Amino acid sequence: MGKHSATGWWVPLTKRWILALLIMLSISTAMIFFIRAALDPCDRHLEVSDKKRVQSQSVPRIATKSSPLSFMKSKLVLLVSHELSLSGGPLLLMELAFLLRGVGTKVNWITIQKPSEEDEVIYSLEHKMWDRGVQVISAKGQETINTALKADLIVLNTAVAGKWLDAVLKEDVPRVLPNVLWWIHEMRGHYFKLDYVKHLPLVAGAMIDSHVTAEYWKNRSRERLRIKMPDTYVVHLGNSKELMEVAEDNVAKRVLREHVRESLGVRNEDLLFAIINSVSRGKGQDLFLRSFYESLELIKGKKLEVPSVHAVIIGSDMNAQTKFESELRNYVMQKKIQDRVHFVNKTLTVAPYLAAIDVLVQNSQAWGECFGRITIEAMAFQLPVLGTAAGGTTEIIVNGTTGLLHPLGKEGITPLAKNIVKLATHVERRLTMGKRGYERVKEIFQEHHMAERIAVVLKEVLKKSKSHLY
Ligand SMILES: *[C@@H]1O[C@H](CO)[C@@H](O)[C@H](O)[C@H]1NC(C)=O
Ligand SMILES: *[C@@H]1O[C@H](CO)[C@@H](O)[C@H](O)[C@H]1NC(C)=O
Ligand SMILES: *[C@@H]1O[C@H](CO)[C@@H](O)[C@H](O)[C@H]1NC(C)=O
Repeated sequence: MGKHSATGWWVPLTKRWILALLIMLSISTAMIFFIRAALDPCDRHLEVSDKKRVQSQSVPRIATKSSPLSFMKSKLVLLVSHELSLSGGPLLLMELAFLLRGVGTKVNWITIQKPSEEDEVIYSLEHKMWDRGVQVISAKGQETINTALKADLIVLNTAVAGKWLDAVLKEDVPRVLPNVLWWIHEMRGHYFKLDYVKHLPLVAGAMIDSHVTAEYWKNRSRERLRIKMPDTYVVHLGNSKELMEVAEDNVAKRVLREHVRESLGVRNEDLLFAIINSVSRGKGQDLFLRSFYESLELIKGKKLEVPSVHAVIIGSDMNAQTKFESELRNYVMQKKIQDRVHFVNKTLTVAPYLAAIDVLVQNSQAWGECFGRITIEAMAFQLPVLGTAAGGTTEIIVNGTTGLLHPLGKEGITPLAKNIVKLATHVERRLTMGKRGYERVKEIFQEHHMAERIAVVLKEVLKKSKSHLY
């Protein structure tokens, strides 16, 4: 790369987004759209409350010819979203919308639940869709029913979207079910309501983000609801092209790293272990802090020569002032590790943080993550991941190769502490794991891989719904 200037830093036009990212950072909870966020679609709580206008970016550059979805050209697809927000589920469905638009599919979009007052996030996202040729239509009414009846394919996004079927289509429900693909991202008990999912057995297929989650649905629907799952397809997600672009740009990464580290008050040589998830007990920040404290004690006790290690908790909501947030802060004060623990507000701009940290910790509890998209995003940045041995995480991390797994719950505290010390002391191992993680992403977790996986499912589903006609 040719430098244009020997002094200061230079910004070629193609790198304008580095600047954009820095600007985003400086306006705290600002939203960004052209960088895919650390959104786990299973986690519908990571929402940015701040209602700033989404930056409108025009980057419609999806390859048409080589797309595995090209057979969807001219087909009519109806996408049904339970809500429209910057949380994982809706954004993932929008990604599908744009992939389909890229190959010339006619895409209609419905948002079931909309607030009655004007909402800037919805406004911006809808405009973004209009710009890319997605028809945003009303969730109910005759026109919508007609579209549903005509559609080659209807994608219901998340379990809760099931309520729309009866509410709007009424007696026409049986006619559309053979064309419905149900994309499920949830793995929590309260979604097991017959109210939501009673039509599951009769749809053309269910698409689920991980094998564990698919297994879980199979068990639970049988045991709790006494219904049978339809044909179920597991589709692991992929990283967006935009995220990969930043992850593979060393200049951008360096600039972002310096900037974020400066804002956190840590030095270049310090080691940063971060959790990027909305702060809640389910995501295990409390247990992580315990492990972190234990790792500091281990390092001190064994007099290990390591750079100073820091914990970064990204996903705080200072406004919410939940009991859990205060519990975390009290723990940090009580252990006197304020200079080693940093809290960062919720943000959708994760790329700068991924560029700045050294290790990602994925400490989700209970059933773990349904998939955990942040894990593959971190791997794209060549970061090793320390994750709980549960949920989708076990399908992403290769234990010992791209990261290390530790048990759920309190049993996991000491193993995670030891893993932190391991990665802090073995620099080579840490860097190698990061590289292996990156290679794994290049092999199976990119957008085009996800598109290929989705294409296989859509073909099957279309075949089935067609055979239903004759
Ligand atoms: C985090 O959010 C709180 C509450 O909204 C705000 O007061 C604080 O300035 C934010 N911190 C940063 C670094 O943006
Ligand atoms: C599903 O049930 C089988 C057999 O009962 C069990 O082995 C498996 O662990 C269960 N899986 C989940 C995710 O609940
Ligand atoms: C992960 O690998 C470590 C050794 O590298 C092993 O001790 C641990 O039991 C493994 N965990 C799982 C869940 O496979």
